[in-house]
Amino acid sequence: MKRGYTGSPSNSGGPPKSRLKHSAEGDADYSEDVVQKVANHYSARTNQSLAERESSPIIHLKKLNNWIKSVLIQLYTRRGDAVLDLACGKGGDLIKWDKAKVGYYVGVDIAEGSIEDCRTRYNGDANHHQNRKKFSFPARLICGDCYEIRLDKVLADDAPFDVCSCQFALHYSWSTEKRARRALANVSALLRPGGTFIGTMPDANVIIRKLRASDGLSFGNSVYWIRFDEEYTEKSFSSSSPFGIKYQFHLEDAVDCPEWIVPVDVFKALADEYDLELVFAKNAHDFVHEYLKKPEYVDLMRRLGALGDDRDKSTLSPDEWEVAYLYLAFALRKRGQPERGQVNGRRDKAKMHISKDDIMTI
Ligand SMILES: C[S@@+](CC[C@H](N)C(=O)[O-])C[C@H]1O[C@@H](n2cnc3c(N)ncnc32)[C@H](O)[C@@H]1O
Repeated sequence: MKRGYTGSPSNSGGPPKSRLKHSAEGDADYSEDVVQKVANHYSARTNQSLAERESSPIIHLKKLNNWIKSVLIQLYTRRGDAVLDLACGKGGDLIKWDKAKVGYYVGVDIAEGSIEDCRTRYNGDANHHQNRKKFSFPARLICGDCYEIRLDKVLADDAPFDVCSCQFALHYSWSTEKRARRALANVSALLRPGGTFIGTMPDANVIIRKLRASDGLSFGNSVYWIRFDEEYTEKSFSSSSPFGIKYQFHLEDAVDCPEWIVPVDVFKALADEYDLELVFAKNAHDFVHEYLKKPEYVDLMRRLGALGDDRDKSTLSPDEWEVAYLYLAFALRKRGQPERGQVNGRRDKAKMHISKDDIMTI
């Protein structure tokens, strides 16, 4: 459901012709403009009612994505961990963190509307999908651009974190090299040695393969489309400019904004510069196949209902499964050994009930 004006028309009938002319890569005004577009897009999307959510054309994809995120969280989180959720959105992962019994949570997002929804979800004020007991961990919410601002300064009292998570959002940092570096520098500075950075983002290899296989500059199916601008008519991408490769992404009932290609080898190399060693980066299809071999995750899949369950005969459609293929999951480890007897931050700004005034805007 839309909260209001999003700045770009919704186009469910396929991609419109490209209207944008190429803007200089790294141009500050251009970059700010598209960053704002992304923020406005997400800010304008309100929480859905249970009925709205269940009637979504991508409901099974949403459930599958929740399963992938749950598996990542369960694999890399231990009881009592301090968690930094970059681009936390409306707090759709709060329940997952609660199930992992984390001890402390900080969520940061650029979209004011999403942070407000996250706040009400954390407080249990909103009529969300489950009427549930309060979350068991104290939390802090921050509204700001985590690919621009030095979060190590903002969160000096909260660090170090055991786990940093950035779900379906790291690609928004890839508009310029400076932003991509800031994203990774923030993660590295805030994670303890041995801590883990987990996430999901578009799989550049798949997107570029699909672009090259398509007749024009766009491709998609009944639930999504991707369109590149005319500057990419050659469909070739120079390895010397791996940032700012923009495309427009439309996913029914979810996304309609500019996104950026994150070449996986560049991601790995850049992360390494910030002492973040790649544990794995795996396409979502491979991730699903691998973890569906484990009974506990089969059971979780059944409970989440991504592939349908005994009562519900509907299941993930081939078009939704194709969208899943556009993404990968990753884990990186911060180099170094955990320090014995490491002192945690003061964390005295965290609350068990967050008021509007408690939200820090940076
Ligand atoms: C697809 S949503 C994912 C939300 C959440 N991580 C999840 O998995 O449910 C992408 C999120 O990235 C956020 N985002 C995009 N650019 C950002 C930035 N520069 N700083 C902080 N958040 C950003 C958006 O506001 C949005 O909430």
